[in-house]
Amino acid sequence: MSTDEGSTPDRRTDDRAARASSFDAGASVYREVRPSYPDEAVRWSVPDGARDVLDLAAGTGKLTERLVALGYTVVAVEPSDAMRAELTVLLPSVDARRGTAEHTDLPDSCVDAVTVAQAWHWVDPPAAAAEIARVLRPGGQLAAIWNIRDDSVDWVARWTEIVHRGDELGGGLRYDAPDLPELFGDVEHATFHWAQTMRPADLRLLAASRSHLILLPDDERAVLLDAVDELVATHPDLRGRDLVDVPYRTECYRARLRA
Ligand SMILES: C[S@@+](CC[C@H](N)C(=O)[O-])C[C@H]1O[C@@H](n2cnc3c(N)ncnc32)[C@H](O)[C@@H]1O
Repeated sequence: MSTDEGSTPDRRTDDRAARASSFDAGASVYREVRPSYPDEAVRWSVPDGARDVLDLAAGTGKLTERLVALGYTVVAVEPSDAMRAELTVLLPSVDARRGTAEHTDLPDSCVDAVTVAQAWHWVDPPAAAAEIARVLRPGGQLAAIWNIRDDSVDWVARWTEIVHRGDELGGGLRYDAPDLPELFGDVEHATFHWAQTMRPADLRLLAASRSHLILLPDDERAVLLDAVDELVATHPDLRGRDLVDVPYRTECYRARLRA
């Protein structure tokens, strides 16, 4: 974890907490530009025969929307009032509640599946795993899901380099198989490739929606956003385009609660 070099453990903990709660300040931008999830990834993440799904750390409802579209009955739990407010505008009929992965405030054994998209790296894994095991029905399933940009594409790698400048925490965050207690069976993994089509100018907003940039002082954030604009104006694969495909792989990890 090279990005941890030079920071004390306390500093890192403080940074994590601030970063995890930063989304409150960027909710509308998040809703506007962050990617959704491909249906095949969502289907893989929820077990056959499931009806009730808890979308944990639901944010503005990017994954919640796909779960609802696929016919599941969804309860969304999200700690940020601003993110949850965006979700409620998008999906007024969804039961959206204030709560965290560690304390959902839901009853025991109430759902067949729990999804955690783009957020397992913000939770306390042992506490979250215990809480998820409590709310899952026997044999129910947890899925941790991430959209990862394909940095093998040159302009994507350059965009990524810009948005990570000065980010001491980012490289230390794990986007891989969650460590789960014995209560859960083996973790399975699948990858789904797809692309989000957006206007090149929105690459600036996509950068602005990231927790690292949300927390930067205005002048430092402006420097990074200007660098994104410069990339969009000059890179041969972006310059003058009306639309651009942002390539993603959706990494999904699932594990069953032992019956
Ligand atoms: C990157 S967003 C992902 C939102 C949504 N799942 C999506 O895929 O777009 C991360 C979300 O995790 C939430 N979050 C941070 N810490 C959390 C915790 N301990 N428990 C539950 N949610 C948390 C944030 O408020 C934020 O909405």
